[in-house]
Amino acid sequence: MARRYLFLVGSTRRGGNTEHLARIAAHALPEDAEQHWLHLLDYPLPPFTDTRHSSGYAMPEGNARMLADATLAATDLVFVAPTYWYGLPWPLKHYLDHWSHWMRIPELQFKQTLAGRTLHAVIVDSDEDPADGSSLPVIDSLRRTAEYMAMQWHGVLLGHANRPGEIANDAAAISAAGVYFT
Ligand SMILES: Cc1cc2nc3c(=O)[nH]c(=O)nc-3n(C[C@H](O)[C@H](O)[C@H](O)COP(=O)(O)O)c2cc1C
Repeated sequence: MARRYLFLVGSTRRGGNTEHLARIAAHALPEDAEQHWLHLLDYPLPPFTDTRHSSGYAMPEGNARMLADATLAATDLVFVAPTYWYGLPWPLKHYLDHWSHWMRIPELQFKQTLAGRTLHAVIVDSDEDPADGSSLPVIDSLRRTAEYMAMQWHGVLLGHANRPGEIANDAAAISAAGVYFT
């Protein structure tokens, strides 16, 4: 089956370092791999509310249904995530919270469909000393998310930069990007 990569850009700005690094990595994808890019700011989701033990959940609609369907259609999910406060930026965290809803709609077969598929992550933080490890909590949370969903965890492509464009100076990250998907 041809691989279908869904890149979910979770920055709160356009043209940021994380998307730049992810696009370099995507250049090395095989020609027959499909790429689909979504910037989560373009698809606002309703507030997430935990109604698991009260009213339950209805079939998602609008942007939520579009994002659920795009997620289900992907063989490979790529979280494109700047580190915010040692964690995921809110657009990706909010999207991920909605998985808790989509998993509980039997017709979507969400958890069953994602099982065995692959989770990737392109992450950029502004650590000047990469040993500071600002992104370790977000990497750990994504590894655990993959495990919980019975997905394959491909590991992280990590870069260090702050102002837009600075990622071009992170030679180690640019070099790692060239082989991240190979
Ligand atoms: C709200 C906020 C929180 C941040 N928290 C961290 C952090 O915990 N650790 C860190 O190293 N950088 C942190 N940063 C810096 C960003 O990770 C960094 O600027 C990154 O390059 C942004 O990626 P982007 O250009 O793709 O948006 C934070 C930035 C913002 C705006």
